[in-house]
Amino acid sequence: MNASYSTIQVSPLSPALGAEIDGIDIAAGVGDDQFAELRQAFVDYSVIFLRDQDITEDQHIAFAERWGAINVNRFFQPVATHPRIAEVRKEPHQKANIGSSWHTDHSYDGLPALGSILYAREVPSVGGDTLFASMYAAYDALSDGLKRMLSTLKAEHSSRHAFGAGAYAGTDTEDLGGRLGNTAAATQDAVHPVVIRHPLSGRPALYVNGDFTVRFEGWTKEESQPLLDYLYAHARQNEFTCRFRWRRGSMAIWDNPATHHCALNDYHGERRLMHRITIEGEPLAAFA
Ligand code: SIN
Repeated sequence: MNASYSTIQVSPLSPALGAEIDGIDIAAGVGDDQFAELRQAFVDYSVIFLRDQDITEDQHIAFAERWGAINVNRFFQPVATHPRIAEVRKEPHQKANIGSSWHTDHSYDGLPALGSILYAREVPSVGGDTLFASMYAAYDALSDGLKRMLSTLKAEHSSRHAFGAGAYAGTDTEDLGGRLGNTAAATQDAVHPVVIRHPLSGRPALYVNGDFTVRFEGWTKEESQPLLDYLYAHARQNEFTCRFRWRRGSMAIWDNPATHHCALNDYHGERRLMHRITIEGEPLAAFA
């Protein structure tokens, strides 16, 4: 990791990943040197956290565009006035939240999202933390034998089973109200290497996730699932994770190819409202 930052203060959150960043005020403006260091911290720590940002939707969008082109989420409710921002909302009467199972964003796209920028507009008095896991650490801890085998594999990813028709069977529609929809748009299928060379760091990372990976290419679902389940359980070991406690005005910027995340659903009866912008990625190459 690059520990030499001169325009920001970087405080690691856990040995595996995550750092809180001080010295950034998005509303006041982020200079090119500061932005370069922020981007370096993103590469070094996989998820970075800012506190006490007081920004408008337009400032959120302008900040996001410095990271890359915006990838508009097809399934989350957009902010009415700013459709490039997706709402991650849970109302006091709703039971299910968005993102409660471990996943990485948009792996069903041919060019999966590089980053996601989540900004807290309203948070519960306690609870609603987000967990992150390092897919570098998960890969590094595998045996040489399994690393060798996985490096020969590709996996199929799809939006269909998570967001398509039938995905919400058995879910109370009131619980989804105003949050998730557009099931007809769930048509994305993609194939990616199981072990990727991260496009920014060059490091190997495990690239399968429980929400969107369907099977290994050339394997049946039944053959694939036991090994996928092993990899998911392996990847969420405590040592590979960090946990972020939100406050109003906090922001998390995570590296999708390098991480999984999971939004805890432990704050029933209170509102949590986040605004998310997702940043376009690039093709993922195998680590060979
Ligand atoms: C998400 O999966 O993007 C939501 C994360 C969160 O709400 O903490």
